[in-house]
Amino acid sequence: MAGQLSPIDTAKFVAAKRAVEYIEDGMKVGLGTGSTAAWMVRCLGELIREDGLSIIGVPTSTRTAELARQVGVKVMSLDEARWLDVTIDGADEYDPDLNLIKGGGGALLQEKIVATASDRMIVIADATKAVEHLGAFPLPVEVVPFGWQTSKALVEEMLDSLDVIGQHSTLRMNRDAPFVTDEGNFILDLHLQRIGNPRQLSLVLNQIPGVVENGLFIDICDVVVVGHGDGKVEVTDINEGTHEEDTIQFADAPNLFADF
Ligand code: 5RP
Repeated sequence: MAGQLSPIDTAKFVAAKRAVEYIEDGMKVGLGTGSTAAWMVRCLGELIREDGLSIIGVPTSTRTAELARQVGVKVMSLDEARWLDVTIDGADEYDPDLNLIKGGGGALLQEKIVATASDRMIVIADATKAVEHLGAFPLPVEVVPFGWQTSKALVEEMLDSLDVIGQHSTLRMNRDAPFVTDEGNFILDLHLQRIGNPRQLSLVLNQIPGVVENGLFIDICDVVVVGHGDGKVEVTDINEGTHEEDTIQFADAPNLFADF
């Protein structure tokens, strides 16, 4: 079945399939949000059905919670689980230090809280997400609706003194209305082109009172699993300093998509 997928979906699928090899019986697992993370949730569903794996999933969005339940992953809130063994999530960009931009799907706040509450964060991605410098992808910043235009002006003014190229931001929309996050907040997308110092930018953004959180994940990701359209996967572990290549056999997963 995976052989019928487009190259980009194959890349996402094989990254997800390789990443779930890290999951062991009894683990509490943070479940990311987005199209790549959705493959991972389906792969976990398959492991539960076919191999009897027993795990608890902590979703990072209502979308992911719904999918997890559909595929038979037991779901718990972070407050119930408290601390997780591992989180697997997608990313919009990752750099050579495995710093990330996340939040393209609008779930950055729960994603960051869940990833930070995990012993290990594994990012799954296709090769288009690799960058030398973060910032070509607009940086999502979650702001409270109260006074959001003032927050937007403060963010743009602050960018003036930082090592970025672009300085304007846009309110994320959902058709004619502002996009609203699971926490009831808005998202500003910052069009920066290149972020010279992601750590500094992240710290400064979070000093602005109306800012709830930003989509820079600094020193949070431990492993990146990159999938390719031909089934190849590359696994980089920043703590171990290792880089391995592998190939996922599509025939391994004949029933994976049967329910969808
Ligand atoms: C959602 C995210 C996603 O992980 C990110 O946008 C990547 O999504 P996709 O796997 O669909 O490319 O951060 O908030």
